[in-house]
Amino acid sequence: MIYLGIFNRKQKKVDNKFSIIPSHIAIIMDGNGRWAKKRGLPRTLGHKAGVEAIREIVKECSKIGIEYLTFYAFSTENWKRPQDEVNGLMKLLVQYLKGEFKELDRNNVVINYIGNISKLPEICQEELIKAKNLTKNNTGLTLNLALNYGGRDEIVYSFKNILKAYDQGEFSIEELNEEMISNNLYTKGIPDPELMIRTSGEERLSNFLIWQLAYSEFYFTDVLWPDFKKDDLYLALKTFERRDRRFGGLK
Ligand code: IPE
Ligand code: IPE
Ligand code: MG
Repeated sequence: MIYLGIFNRKQKKVDNKFSIIPSHIAIIMDGNGRWAKKRGLPRTLGHKAGVEAIREIVKECSKIGIEYLTFYAFSTENWKRPQDEVNGLMKLLVQYLKGEFKELDRNNVVINYIGNISKLPEICQEELIKAKNLTKNNTGLTLNLALNYGGRDEIVYSFKNILKAYDQGEFSIEELNEEMISNNLYTKGIPDPELMIRTSGEERLSNFLIWQLAYSEFYFTDVLWPDFKKDDLYLALKTFERRDRRFGGLK
């Protein structure tokens, strides 16, 4: 038998012991449409299958002890898609929050969102706010859903907040620093992701967390999001474990 090593995902035998784990993982869940197309299914069924993958990965990350998990669920650019698909995604979001709430709460998960949710259908906003309020005292994994999220939009949002404070005379231009910009982003109070995963073979950020990912490790995989299972997560974490993070310094 040829030994293929632990990095062959087909072997499905990646162990889940890690010497170091990221406290924050950010995921660009991509490939739902292609997953559906391969099966001759409508794109919406690809998104539905994608929700199943979210369930498994949230559970796994919770178990491993990841503190923050951010999912890119809907970008500021995704409004360009056909109305039917957009509606389907919004419906899935509500179904997910309603259907999964009890289980997430039982698992001590804090539900949070980033992005300009005021542009989402009202029912989505209501479910998000409710879920956030009801889980705010939980102490486990923070599940961060990026919705109508764009990294550039977020930086504009941060600058607007900062300029309001500047208008009030709260600081001088010389005092403006990186921390102030970070503290006025949607992700205020959340550490920058150490690991960013993108599925489906695309290797770009698509306007995701452009400020926060400045020093993150990137992990790209050809696996389509609905096929991304716990072993794929372990593989990403094993790869992260071997990365040599220098932050501009020396070993
Ligand atoms: C990612 O899958 C999900 C969202 C953007 C909401 P896609 O829908 O982008 O899938 P592909 O890229 O068309 O395969
Ligand atoms: C990024 O995926 C957005 C989400 C996963 C929500 P897209 O599929 O929309 O990105 P592009 O169009 O390939 O850059
Ligand atoms: Mg895509």
